Amino acid sequence: LNGHSLVRKESGILTQHTRSLLRLEKEFTVSGQRLQTLVRHMVQEMKKGLAADGHQLKMIPSFVVRRPTGNETGSVLALDLGGSNFRVCEVYLEGQGRLRMRHRKYVVGDDLKRASGRVLFDFFAEKIEGFLDEIGADKAIERNLGFTFSFPVGQPALAQGHLLHWNKGFQCEGVVNRDVVQLLAEALNRRNLKIKVTALVNDTVGTLISHAYTDPQTHIGVILGTGTNAAYFERIEEIGKWTGPNETGEMVINTEWGAYCEPSVLPITPYDLALDRASTAPKMQIFEKMISGMYLGEIVRYVLLDLISTGELFKGRGSKKLDTPYNFETANMSRIERDHSLELSDTKAVLEDILGIPTTSIGDRRVVKTVCELVGTRAARLSAAGIAAIVTKMNRLDACTVALDGSVFEHYPHFANRMRDALREMLGITAENIILELGRDGSGQGAALIAAIHH
Ligand code: GLC
Repeated sequence: LNGHSLVRKESGILTQHTRSLLRLEKEFTVSGQRLQTLVRHMVQEMKKGLAADGHQLKMIPSFVVRRPTGNETGSVLALDLGGSNFRVCEVYLEGQGRLRMRHRKYVVGDDLKRASGRVLFDFFAEKIEGFLDEIGADKAIERNLGFTFSFPVGQPALAQGHLLHWNKGFQCEGVVNRDVVQLLAEALNRRNLKIKVTALVNDTVGTLISHAYTDPQTHIGVILGTGTNAAYFERIEEIGKWTGPNETGEMVINTEWGAYCEPSVLPITPYDLALDRASTAPKMQIFEKMISGMYLGEIVRYVLLDLISTGELFKGRGSKKLDTPYNFETANMSRIERDHSLELSDTKAVLEDILGIPTTSIGDRRVVKTVCELVGTRAARLSAAGIAAIVTKMNRLDACTVALDGSVFEHYPHFANRMRDALREMLGITAENIILELGRDGSGQGAALIAAIHH
């Protein structure tokens, strides 16, 4: 929103549409000043989280203390459970900064997200075996595997970590407080697979390390996908709570910024509160619920339902589909934001054909598009504040490359530009020193690299 209003005020009388849009704009806009307050507060929270456990930001030490040199060689497996997908990969490290990867991607359906932990981990083992068969691998050879598990874990060692709590809609029972590496090892054992899980890695950590493999200026890894989070290199002497071996130098910290929640600083609207209350994990992951792909469409859905209930949209007529939680997907927002046609015909297709709204006027469609812009822009600006906070904490305002991955960063129109605008508002000209780069498929590759360099 960059200082100017999205809502065009036509001269004279305000239409009812315009009036509600002005109200929504006020609720969803994050001013430059508020962003700066947010950055300052997040830096404080980062420091608290580094000093001791039990704060908003978990700041989890990852045990990753080395950057890849590019000289690593060999073949390593990776299993990558993100949010909506999971992958099995084989990464060949060829030396000289080169690697090749083969992978298989599977959708994680709602059934699996609610299945028991045993079913979930048996499913992983089954798919790993299927993958090895498919590539014609010799199963008698013992292999190392890096496990990307993108949920908050308490990690006492590189290849050990108990799940603190599920998020992103997962509810598999029998996993919280258990060591997920052990659960995977047991499932692999049940299939007699000779695979050793040598590293447990968060997707942000994997993204960071895989990008650092080719670009040593990379200091931060960010995921903007189904969920959101960031990891960065911190000096070990800054990690007050670190009780492990007296390492010097740096260690990657998984911030788990999705859990950030400061009502006095975050622009939380009644729609966010409604979404949170109805979610599988209320009062948790508040920052994530304002930013990531799992939730953006759902926020818009709440706003639309509100405008329908007051008769301001679609002549007060909604649809069964729109009444169903999580049915307005963030991908729909992307389509609407990309729609620059005069009649907003793609927006019409989304609303009428996909969501089953009986009829929409051009006025209705403009309102829906503006709502998407407001919610999408807020998400981009909040995530930029997170990045500014990390860069500030690291004291790297002079040069810092950020590797970003995830469906929202990759596919949501204007997201990266809105982040850059916000960075400029917060940091002025120094924002130019922060380079945002897409680090596609990094989480699996990174896990394989970490397994290779730390075994
Ligand atoms: C959630 C998880 C975090 C992960 C992020 C992105 O926030 O807690 O571990 O990195 O989603 O997948």
